[in-house]
Amino acid sequence: MTSKSWIERDRASRLQSRYTFPEVLERGNGTLVYDTDGREYLDFVSGQVCAVAGHAHPKYADAIAKQAHTLIQRGSAFTDTCQIQLAEKVAQMCPGDLNKSYFACTGSESNEAALRMAKLITGRHEVAALVRGYHGLTAGSFGITGLGGVFREGYGPMQPGAVFLPAPYVYRCPFKGCDQDGDSCAMTCLEHGLDTLRRTSSGRPAAVFVEVVQSAGGVIVLPPEWLREVRRLCDEWGALLVIDEAQTGFGRTGKMFAFEHSGVMPDILTLSKSLGGGVPVSAVVVRDGLAAELEAKGYYQSSSHTGDPLLSAAALANLMIIEEEGLVENARKVGELLHRGLEQLRKEYDIVGDVRGLGLFLGFEIVESKETRTAASELAETVSAHCQRDGLLIGHVPGAVSENIIRILPPLTTTASEAERALEILGSALAQASSQAG
Ligand SMILES: Cc1ncc(COP(=O)(O)O)c(C=O)c1O
Repeated sequence: MTSKSWIERDRASRLQSRYTFPEVLERGNGTLVYDTDGREYLDFVSGQVCAVAGHAHPKYADAIAKQAHTLIQRGSAFTDTCQIQLAEKVAQMCPGDLNKSYFACTGSESNEAALRMAKLITGRHEVAALVRGYHGLTAGSFGITGLGGVFREGYGPMQPGAVFLPAPYVYRCPFKGCDQDGDSCAMTCLEHGLDTLRRTSSGRPAAVFVEVVQSAGGVIVLPPEWLREVRRLCDEWGALLVIDEAQTGFGRTGKMFAFEHSGVMPDILTLSKSLGGGVPVSAVVVRDGLAAELEAKGYYQSSSHTGDPLLSAAALANLMIIEEEGLVENARKVGELLHRGLEQLRKEYDIVGDVRGLGLFLGFEIVESKETRTAASELAETVSAHCQRDGLLIGHVPGAVSENIIRILPPLTTTASEAERALEILGSALAQASSQAG
């Protein structure tokens, strides 16, 4: 059956809730995925940024099959051997005293649980988060998501208590005329944010939630200096620093965790996509002292699916693959190659305005020209469509929130030759979009 007929069935039976590409995917292998018309694509978005060990990795698939024949589910009042081993593995891979985990399914859920922890520990309800930050679409996680438009219109009031600080988006400084270089610009941004916090809230939040690299918001890397100052302020306020590493966790940025680039330790770490490697499993990892406090206060959190054996076995296999195959180091090396290649494309094409990111978490802005920096969303769509036609999936969906920004997030197993092939396809897409731009 062709993609076209599958899409007709999709439209007839599935509630359409966001843009859906006309190609229908049916299988994958490593960095490659295939549609129902038999076309092959390099998947440079890792599914929904989850398939960090690539698609259909044999060890991952075998672990799932084996566990499916053993025990898939248990009551939430029991624990099981897979969940225990996963909790131990996560503690071993996390630095410092981040040693105790609660498991859920999605990234949104992990942030809901983190919010409940922060409120119970501090007895406060206000939370600081960032403009352009994305933490999920359930009520609490969405309440701290700094995105507007289609996300908000029509859904009524948000959960109260969130204060949004401006993201240190240096290429497009929200404070026009700030005219400072990278780090000082980011610190000025933080000062403005703190002023907002003081004037619109008690000034003493329960927690500050951040992504070290904002993804949906446009691949904005929080400068280490900015993060260190926020860590210091959290200590001063008695607030918890919650770092959401749904996408950056387990190696994508070339270090095991993105917070390690700054040396800043979170109090609470939320993990999802890259933890499960494709199956829905998420975790909230807390420091030992905090875990003791939560347990003493009777922290209550549960779900029909918390650390299910099937999901835990899959996550465990995924983490073993990351370690055994040296994927963190591969992300660093292949990331450098891709970053250099993208920089080269930036020099060649006036419509590439900025290239940024860490490891295999990269992004670039499509602009009308380097001089004006005007965001060119339609041109970004052209680039993305050309890439897709030529067999490369990149992170740009028509009508997406990050409009003119293209994200590059391939599996951590990506080889140098796959990266070079992707750069070739991108180069030809940029050439075509540039000629369209005139
Ligand atoms: C940083 C971050 N946090 C949370 C989420 C929400 O995760 P989920 O879609 O699994 O609920 C996402 C999803 O894209 C994310 O990127």
